[in-house]
Amino acid sequence: MEEKIKQLKMLKNAVILAHYYAPKEVQAVADYVGDSFYLAKVAKQSCADVIVFCGVYFMGESAKILNPQKKVLMPDITADCPMAHMVKPGLIEKIRAKYDDVAVACYINSTARLKSQSDVCVTSSNAVKIVRSLPNKNIFFIPDRNLGRYVAEQVPEKNIILNDGYCPIHNFLTAEQLRNEIAEHPNAVVLSHPECEREVLELSDYIGSTAEIIDYAKLSPASEFIVCTEEGVVFKLGEDNPDKSFYFPKPHPCCKDMKLNTLQGIISVLEKEENSVEVSEEIRLKALKPLERMLELAK
Ligand code: 13P
Ligand code: SF4
Repeated sequence: MEEKIKQLKMLKNAVILAHYYAPKEVQAVADYVGDSFYLAKVAKQSCADVIVFCGVYFMGESAKILNPQKKVLMPDITADCPMAHMVKPGLIEKIRAKYDDVAVACYINSTARLKSQSDVCVTSSNAVKIVRSLPNKNIFFIPDRNLGRYVAEQVPEKNIILNDGYCPIHNFLTAEQLRNEIAEHPNAVVLSHPECEREVLELSDYIGSTAEIIDYAKLSPASEFIVCTEEGVVFKLGEDNPDKSFYFPKPHPCCKDMKLNTLQGIISVLEKEENSVEVSEEIRLKALKPLERMLELAK
């Protein structure tokens, strides 16, 4: 299958992008593997005709918004992020009416429609920096209440208004599960994603995006780590650090939507050029502004 994917990529001038949560065999055939911010940057810079996005739908949408002239294909078009939809209809308008000096900061894990109603996008690796740099006093942070709360703690000079969305995978990883893992590995360094709840972050030694967690583990002199994010990161962690041990709280956090990306799916979309991500031009133009503003402010 790997050989077939190579041939099809050449034939179609295609590039494969995969998130760290995709299955390991998919990460292994991808041209670029990374966190949400890195993949958005790569999608913008790509000169391929076809982008095969092995992630979830909002990632494919962001790639399409940044590259309207390219085909963006997903191995499984039903791979979706539940959090991407978690803003009540009409709430953004209500908040805008209530506050006169407000910016809507939209986590990239959101639908194109939500982005189109926002002032700036952020990812977990640049949210603190971008929110701090905004001229507005009030920030409506959508959709993730956990990342929003983490940003509020790092940027106390802003009034951050939280929305009630969350990632089911990170949110339901409990402090008790983490304590049990710490009891089994008392010397391990705890690395957590800011999509986790406060109680989990309070037990952590380092908080960062998936790419930041991976970088931290590589540079750290420690040899044992407990990782509070989706288990797919273990592929890169193991590749970078063959002599270090990585543990996950049990049951291991697993995003079933990310696992819908398969080698067979990649072959099938490359052959048939189906599962193409489409965004209406009206929404695309509105969603492009906050995405481009993020890429600019994060520089
Ligand atoms: P990052 O890749 O930005 O860390 O985001 C994690 C995530 O949940 C992606 O769906
Ligand atoms: Fe969405 Fe969470 Fe899955 Fe990321 S891990 S795609 S935030 S459900």
